[in-house]
Amino acid sequence: MPHGKKLIVGNWKMNPPTTEEAKAIFRKIKRIAGRIRKSEVVICPSEIHLSALARLASGGKVSLGVQDVFWEDEGFFTGQVSPMQARDAGATYAIVGHSEKRKLGETNEQVAKKLKAVVRDGLVGILCIGEAERDRDGRFYDVLASELLGSLSEVKAEALKKSVVIAYEPIWEIGRADMRAMKPLSVHETSIFIRKVINDAFGAQASHAVPILYGGSVSAENARAIVFDGEMDGLLIGRQSLDANAFSEILKQIDSSKNGKK
Ligand code: PGA
Repeated sequence: MPHGKKLIVGNWKMNPPTTEEAKAIFRKIKRIAGRIRKSEVVICPSEIHLSALARLASGGKVSLGVQDVFWEDEGFFTGQVSPMQARDAGATYAIVGHSEKRKLGETNEQVAKKLKAVVRDGLVGILCIGEAERDRDGRFYDVLASELLGSLSEVKAEALKKSVVIAYEPIWEIGRADMRAMKPLSVHETSIFIRKVINDAFGAQASHAVPILYGGSVSAENARAIVFDGEMDGLLIGRQSLDANAFSEILKQIDSSKNGKK
């Protein structure tokens, strides 16, 4: 986990189609990350590309993660990957509860079991939460709180402090064609709410320690404002992490900040 650095995570989802393409993008990102001082960079490729990228990552500054895991370490679970296997293949981070998995039926209960397994097996869990819509009455706050508490129900404050990152991803901002992300002020307000929920359930230390990232249509145009005006600890980036130039621009913008300010 970053100490005073921003955490910039790329989620490649089910892209690119071949290992060669994945390696080509990764090589460029590795080169840029070698010159970056203010961010820790994590790439979460498709599991099928993980080992190949782990070989390339060696000696560099890019960490690797998986986009999902199962909660058992081994056994008869067709199609699943365990946190232990992910770690063995080179991952140090694991995303859990991404909205695209939740859309396929994943429940808070399942996410909680996955997060517990991730922490148990020595990975850092990136827990995604986010409301599907914002209603005027503020009911989305209840949605967020129950998703957060439901997904964190199997971890203790100590583990939360050391091994969990929250990624706040409003579902309606993910994958937008116009790349219009949430306004920094709203991002900031929501992160205050998330910290309050954690504070009430796990105490002040955990609430203070847990990094909160923003995700949803992040680009070089909005990254700086979200991180610095929105006071976020980092970003979870989908499409723009597959474009090494765009990703590099985001990293450079964060690096050009002065003492953590814009
Ligand atoms: P996007 O995806 O940056 O392409 O909107 C973000 C995510 O789903 O994590």
